[in-house]
Amino acid sequence: SEADKGTYPHYMLKEIDDQPAVMRKIVQTYFNEDGEPQIDGALLTDLKAADRLYIVAAGTSWHAGLVGAKLFERLAHVSAEAFVASEFAYDTPMLSEHPFFIFLSQSGETADSREVLTQIKAAGYHSLTLTNVQNSTLSREATYTMALEAGPEIAVASTKAYTAQIAVEAVIAKVLGETLGQDAARDFDLANQLGLVANGIQALVDQKEVFEEIAKNNFVDQRDAFYIGRGIDYALSLEASLKLKEITYIHSEGVAAGELKHGPIALIEAGTPVIGVITQAKTAGLTRSNLAETAARGSHIMTIVSKSLANAHDDIVLEDIDELLSPLLAIIPAQLISYYTSLLKGLDVDKPRNLAKSVTVQ
Ligand code: G6P
Repeated sequence: SEADKGTYPHYMLKEIDDQPAVMRKIVQTYFNEDGEPQIDGALLTDLKAADRLYIVAAGTSWHAGLVGAKLFERLAHVSAEAFVASEFAYDTPMLSEHPFFIFLSQSGETADSREVLTQIKAAGYHSLTLTNVQNSTLSREATYTMALEAGPEIAVASTKAYTAQIAVEAVIAKVLGETLGQDAARDFDLANQLGLVANGIQALVDQKEVFEEIAKNNFVDQRDAFYIGRGIDYALSLEASLKLKEITYIHSEGVAAGELKHGPIALIEAGTPVIGVITQAKTAGLTRSNLAETAARGSHIMTIVSKSLANAHDDIVLEDIDELLSPLLAIIPAQLISYYTSLLKGLDVDKPRNLAKSVTVQ
């Protein structure tokens, strides 16, 4: 079956490798023969009427929501923000006049998100759930639902659901933006971009030995690690860092690169790994300076960089894709470094201590 890990030693490695196929599946599912993305008509009507999008999720899905909010703002010019479900439920932000809610959940069962859905339904608001499990609670109870098409995800640490969530959010943002007459959406060739993404992911998963070496030389013996970036690269850093802490038990933080100097840089010691994520032209130079500031305090710096921004000293170079979609490539090295670090430490990659795949308590 699809949920079988076959010859793979762990589900997580299989699920990392599944990602190029998942990107292609999303193109097949959501685009017509002319390469135009399609979403449900009633859903589009509701989205068009919204003055603000409230994305609600937990864990890795929240991190996908942070990227999605940027996609909605930049492609559709609709105000959007991603909220941690457990916070939203009991510290509800002020709502706009016409809010619309988007729930992101791999499992569709997370109790924190279900609590928010119950509340906003009672208030009469409409919602969409993006989930990998059709017929899950969040899928059944929202007004609309869309499938992630990632195939079963078994490893506790989420990989392909993250990339699938971002790709499906891009589909929705593109359709909404086009409908609203936004040039940014019209000019964004998403079908082509997702094809480039699939190839770019394939190129990364084909060089696993590179990431195994980095894990062995720079992570296995470390107590702390930092991923840093700005904007979309910051959102990516949060997910990259979560992957590391979940399965290696290394204390790791994703830091907005400009915030390092306001505290986290105090934690840098000789050899502490600091990974700079550099995929946004506007902030590439600033993030490089922040990396250099940590190197001056003894850190071991590494870079994950888009090809067009790369130089000869960079460590991991990503194929060039649109900056808005860069997390789809930049997360792959982080997934693989975490995987190999966990493996080399002799830990249970697929079932890390204290964590559950789906958390059905608040
Ligand atoms: C658990 C899992 C995480 C996941 C989070 C949200 O904590 O260990 O991997 O990101 O729940 O799950 P969901 O199914 O709602 O995406």
